[in-house]
Amino acid sequence: MLKDMLSIHELSVDEVEEILRLAAELKSMQKAGVPHEWLKGKSLGMIFEKSSTRTRVSFEVGMYQLGGQALFLSNRDLQLGRGEPIKDTARVLSRYLDGIMIRTFGHERAEELAKYASIPVINALTDLLHPCQVLTDLLTIREHKGKNLKNLKMAYVGDGNNMTHSFLYGAAKTGMTLSVATPKDYAPKDFVVKNALEDAKETGAVIELMENPAKAVEGADVVVTDTWASMGQEAEHDERKKIFAPYQVNDELLSHADKRAIVMHCLPAYRGEEITEEVFEKNADVIFDEAENRLHTQKAIMLLTMGDF
Ligand code: CP
Ligand code: NVA
Repeated sequence: MLKDMLSIHELSVDEVEEILRLAAELKSMQKAGVPHEWLKGKSLGMIFEKSSTRTRVSFEVGMYQLGGQALFLSNRDLQLGRGEPIKDTARVLSRYLDGIMIRTFGHERAEELAKYASIPVINALTDLLHPCQVLTDLLTIREHKGKNLKNLKMAYVGDGNNMTHSFLYGAAKTGMTLSVATPKDYAPKDFVVKNALEDAKETGAVIELMENPAKAVEGADVVVTDTWASMGQEAEHDERKKIFAPYQVNDELLSHADKRAIVMHCLPAYRGEEITEEVFEKNADVIFDEAENRLHTQKAIMLLTMGDF
């Protein structure tokens, strides 16, 4: 039973394994039509301070499938958006709800919410991390490449952003090899890399940072990318497009990967920027499995935080 799920770094190796195991079990149950309404009578508040398609729909439907209800709380409607402190919002919502999911800008906002909430808080993306997505990606990699992540090499190519940070933590907790290639000024944050290298000692994960995308992709089983301009960075889009051009995931770059490599993308994808139309469509089955798996993984996270598990 977890109080919060804010960062993969804060989970133990066993807790990561349990989330992935339970997510796979819930997926099988849902496909077989086996009822699993283990959050009957419970309510999840979903605070969104940024846009979302997948996160909103998968949390809402996931809560419904677990027998509970989800409330969409946009900062445009909440008093939070007019300046009510997050610590007061946390204490008020704790009196009504059984859990809070938050998508916001500064990671410290999610941490403050969790500090003052007496109920579990789930991070559904901050500028720093996107743990629900990366746990989902680990489940998807297992489905396509086998259960033992220790034998696999993943290459992340592009911006050193919230996805990169969570991949660093995800690889470190599962023993994967992760090569990250970013332009020099867009590397992941030092403290995240330091934490990941520390976590990697427990699992034997290999973590490498570099600038050369072809080198990162060399022999990779999984190649991942993400948008070059994350939410909140729209004004930098044109400048970033120029800087990141050599980091596009295209057929030439993939010629350096293992022949059976899969390409993943958390979506939304910007074709012609971080990924070509051809590469995207060739890997569409994996990419949309990844999108579907948000549902199953988040149901596992909700059960392990809000349930009587
Ligand atoms: N991948 C992801 O988090 O998608 P949304 O922004 O649509 O929720
Ligand atoms: N890095 C992206 C992920 C979107 C799901 C962003 O933060 O906008």
